[in-house]
Order: sequence, then C-alpha cells, then structure tokens
Amino acid sequence: MNTSTVAELLDKDITLQEIEIKGWVRTFRANRFIALNDGSTLNNIQCVVDFENTDEALLKRITTGAAVHIKGELKESQGKGQRVEIQVNSIEILGDSDPETYPIQPKKHSFEFLRENAHLRTRTNTFSAVMRLRSSLSFAIHKYFNDNGFYYMHTPIITGSDAEGAGEMFRVSALDAKNPPLNESGSVDYKQDFFGKETNLTVSGQLEAETYAMSLGKVYTFGPTFRAENSNTSRHLAEFWMIEPEVAFMDLAGNMDLAEDFMKSVLSYVMEHNREDLEFLEKRLLDEEKTKPQAERSEMSLIEKINFVIDNNFKRVSYTEAIDILKNCKPNKKKKFKYLIEEWGADLQSEHERYLVEKHFKCPVILFDYPANIKAFYMRLNDDGKTVRAMDILFPGIGEMVGGSQREERLDVLQEKMKALDIDEKELWWYLDLRKYGTAVHSGFGLGFERLVMFATGMTNIRDVIPYPRTPQNAEF
Ligand code: 4AD
Ligand code: MG
Repeated sequence: MNTSTVAELLDKDITLQEIEIKGWVRTFRANRFIALNDGSTLNNIQCVVDFENTDEALLKRITTGAAVHIKGELKESQGKGQRVEIQVNSIEILGDSDPETYPIQPKKHSFEFLRENAHLRTRTNTFSAVMRLRSSLSFAIHKYFNDNGFYYMHTPIITGSDAEGAGEMFRVSALDAKNPPLNESGSVDYKQDFFGKETNLTVSGQLEAETYAMSLGKVYTFGPTFRAENSNTSRHLAEFWMIEPEVAFMDLAGNMDLAEDFMKSVLSYVMEHNREDLEFLEKRLLDEEKTKPQAERSEMSLIEKINFVIDNNFKRVSYTEAIDILKNCKPNKKKKFKYLIEEWGADLQSEHERYLVEKHFKCPVILFDYPANIKAFYMRLNDDGKTVRAMDILFPGIGEMVGGSQREERLDVLQEKMKALDIDEKELWWYLDLRKYGTAVHSGFGLGFERLVMFATGMTNIRDVIPYPRTPQNAEF
C-alpha cells in the first residue's frame, strides 16, 4: 500500500479503497473527527476515528499540529461538505504537539503574529495558499522562458560592480570588522580583503545578463538580489527575487511587448492551475472588504483583477504625457500630492504612480522615455538628448512592478555618460567590451518577483509573500 496525499484522495476520479496517509492535525472534534492537512491542497480530509475502540491515551495525543500516520478506508462521506472521508483503522502519532504551547491555534491569527512565527505560518490556509501560488508562479516563469527560446543564466551573487549605480549595496568582506587593515591614507585596505577589492551582494544581474544576451541571444535570470535601501515600506525588501530577461536585437517597443505577454502568460498559468488557492484568497479578501466602509471597498475581486490584467492591453504612456496629466490633475477633493509635480524632469513618487494607474487610467501602465538624469547610466539615450529609452510598468495596488530599458549600445555615448557620472571605466571594462566587439541594439527588464506574488494573491504586505522576509532590523529566522 502506497502513502497517498490529501490532494490525491480528494480527486474526483479516486476509487474507494484501503489507504495510508501522513499529515498534520488541523482540528480534532468530538473525539471523533480529524481534519487532516498535508500541504498538497488547501483542503483537509476528514478522518473518522472509532473512539470507542481507541485507547484513551492515544486519543489525547491527537491534538492540533501533531503529525500522524493513518491507515484506513476511503469511504463516501455521510457528512455535508465533503465527498469522501477516511474511516480510520489505525493511527500512529509521529510527532506530538502540545496544545498548551503550539502557537497556531484553530482560529484567526493576525498577520503580525504570524510573521513572528514565520516558521509555522504555512500551517495556516492563507500562507499555504500564498506559498503554493509563489511556487507555481515561479514554475510558470521558467516555463514561459523555456517555451519561448530563452536560456536560464545564473548571474553571480557576489559582484565587484554596482549594476544600478545607486550605491545601495551590502558589502561582502572577510576582513576583521573591528580591526581591518588600513592603507597608507588610513582607510580600509580592501586589497587585503578576500577578493583583493571591494565586493558586494548583487543588486541586479542585468549587466552580466547583457553579456550573455550578446552571445546566446535570449537569456533570463531569476535569482535573489539585495538592496540596502532603508525603506521600511510594505513594498520593499532587503532581499528579493528578480526575474531579468535580456534580448539581443530587441528595442524598447519589443521590450514592452515581451513584458506584457510574459506577465499575462504567468498569471494565466496560475488562474488555470491554482484555482482553489485563488478562490480561497479571494474569499478572504471579500470578507475583509466587508469590514470597510462602502466607499473604500475594491471595485473588483481578486480573480476579476487578475482577469482584467490578462484581458486588457497595458496603457503605454510617455513620461512627458504623464507629467502633463499629473500637473493638471486633481488627485482628491481635499488632499493634494505630498510632493507636487512642478516641472518636467521630476522623479515620480509612488503617490503619482498610484494616481496614474488607480485613478486616471485604471489599468496597468507602461511609462516610457524618462528624463536621462533620473535613470541609470546604461539606458539608451534618445535623439532628443534628454530622455532615455526606459520603461516602468505600474500596477494598480502595487505601484512599480517592472523596471527596464533599451541599453546604450554606442561605445562613445556610454563612455561619455559614465564619465559624467564618475563611473570608473576600469571597473566595467568587460561591459564596455560588448560595445567594442559586435555591439547591437538590446533590451531587457527586471520584474520584482514578490510584487508579482502580491498582485496574484492580493496580499498587501511584501513580508507576507516571501518565506523569511529581510527588512531593516529584522532577520530573525
Ligand atoms: O527598477 P529596478 O531597480 O531595475 C533594475 O534593477 C534593472 N537592472 C532591471 C533590468 O533592467 N534588468 O528593479 C526592478 C524591479 C522593480 O521594478 C521592483 O519590482 C523590484 O525590482 N524591486 C524591489 N522589490 C522588492 N524590494 C525592493 N527593495 C525592490 N527594489 C526593486
Ligand atoms: Mg525601478
């Protein structure tokens, strides 16, 4: 007899038979009914214990959280709400769970409390649904790129360059932090460090991905990235996962098409394969909505929002058009923006982005052709000499989901830009080589994986869509 999973036993095509199953007790009711979960599905299977013929001491050990091994018969259920149940013939307690101290009680816990118990929170319906969706999205991403002729590339985690030029990096050093070697001028001598120079955790695999795109054609990375930006928001992590495709001979318009097609495709995948979890999360959100005043309730349910993104074109708007909208808009009857957009060239804050997607266009927006001086050094300069071929994709409820661009392929223009920004050519000699030998138009983008998971699950805090969130002052696990 093979051990089955709950998902297998609840499958409509299952035949009634003798079975064996292992899992964790969610609840034990009336000394008789175990709701058993094993993570294979959101649903529990009911296991009916013949308590009159079961040892009292054993019955006492069937507690919430305990791991059990059950042998029995799969039968048609007499009760409502389930098609089948297990008539238990024998039960073995694999691991006890003290009901006095077990943190995950069969009741509603706050997300804050569950964050403090991140090691146990996937034993709740919400977090198991979110993490199954996260896994499924991750698979859909690899599938999309594989189906479309991309190669998966592993970019280094430890790097000697700052891909974004934003200086928000975690240093990697093997030096004695309390007593580092100093050079003649009295500063830390990184020549004596492990790699013989200053190194960091990567903020993006883009520059390395560009090198592979310029030989393999179409590549993507999907790995952890690290940012030491001190932003304690519900959308920022210090360690997050980024998907970065990079494609040779593709311009900015092609980049937009790719990003839109890609996002629609992975969302369609989970709509098809994770329906049960999505419906559960949708119901959770609808219940939450009911506690809000009518005016604040969302117009669409979770599944409607996902379908809306799949079925509608993203709106493509230039930065200049967006600024005109923002300068002339009335964000709210009473409230103005915290940062007023006074003139062309200003960087957009999240309140502006949210206004554009949530109030003005009411759909995902691709903003493109940003002012050169608010974007990274590697972006392709337009003929106007002041804008670059950048694109950000903004999502309702999330804000910036994607950042990307066509890359500057002209050696002289890139060198000039680096000089103006004081970026040492010696640090990026290999990157410049791409422009010396067989340079060509190429483009790519970065999608913040956790922001995609937030959108697909309706979770509103990024800490709740990654197993162990890393945020300022927080690396407990
Ligand atoms: O816009 P960013 O900084 O772009 C890049 O890193 C480019 N090198 C990508 C490329 O062109 N290959 O970051 C890309 C995306 C953002 O749009 C956002 O979704 C996410 O990464 N992101 C974060 N997600 C969580 N926490 C953070 N601290 C994030 N910073 C960026
Ligand atoms: Mg960005």
